[in-house]
Amino acid sequence: MQIGRKLIHLESVDSTNNYTANVVKSQGLSSGTVILADEQFAGRGQRGAEWVVEPGMNLTFSVYLEVVNLSVENQFDLSKVVVLSICHFLKKVGIDAQVKWPNDILVQGNKISGVLIENTISSSGPIKSIVGVGINVNQTRFGEFNATSIQSELGTFYPIRDALFSFIESFNLISDELLDRPSVLHDRYLDKLFQYKTKNTYEDASGVFEGEICGIEQSGKLIVQKDNQEVSYDLKEIKFL
Ligand code: BTN
Repeated sequence: MQIGRKLIHLESVDSTNNYTANVVKSQGLSSGTVILADEQFAGRGQRGAEWVVEPGMNLTFSVYLEVVNLSVENQFDLSKVVVLSICHFLKKVGIDAQVKWPNDILVQGNKISGVLIENTISSSGPIKSIVGVGINVNQTRFGEFNATSIQSELGTFYPIRDALFSFIESFNLISDELLDRPSVLHDRYLDKLFQYKTKNTYEDASGVFEGEICGIEQSGKLIVQKDNQEVSYDLKEIKFL
């Protein structure tokens, strides 16, 4: 699966994910198209949060994908490919990153990138995915957030378009190598997983507890060892403290 043959570059938009959804609906878009914006004035994050970054300083883009072999059951595989591609790109730059479940990218506990994947599932045809990616590139001040950027890590300016093309190259490599090898993909995801197999503090509906992340279900749910039992969690059901 190749992305980036077609690139739409916008100066300013509410959200590249919204823009992509509207274009897909109104005129259609070829799978693999990348939509990049210099500025988003209503960028969206996971769990209904906003994604607010300094205009012109970071990478904010979406990729439109129709993945033929992706099904409802294995749709989290695309998420794994995306986060591993971001880690692969960062490694080329000289930055070691980890994945905080499900798809935040951290450098020593500070967030450098976030992913918002929005899938449309229909009874006929492939799943339509809008993969929204934000990567902090040259912003160095993040207020009260535990965040970082390529420039903060390397101490030098990094050209944003170079970052995009390098990410595209990583994505094309990783998806070709791993999308049809689910067990290898799964192992690589676990290799990068933040707090995997270590004791940490979490909170679920019954309160704060000490637990240990021990796996990921095929559906993408997080499996945590809690009081000698394995409990599976969806995105909104567990907090990392
Ligand atoms: C998160 O970590 O909460 C996900 C952040 C995703 C941000 C990207 S920026 C490009 C795309 N357009 C959006 O509105 N959001 C995603």
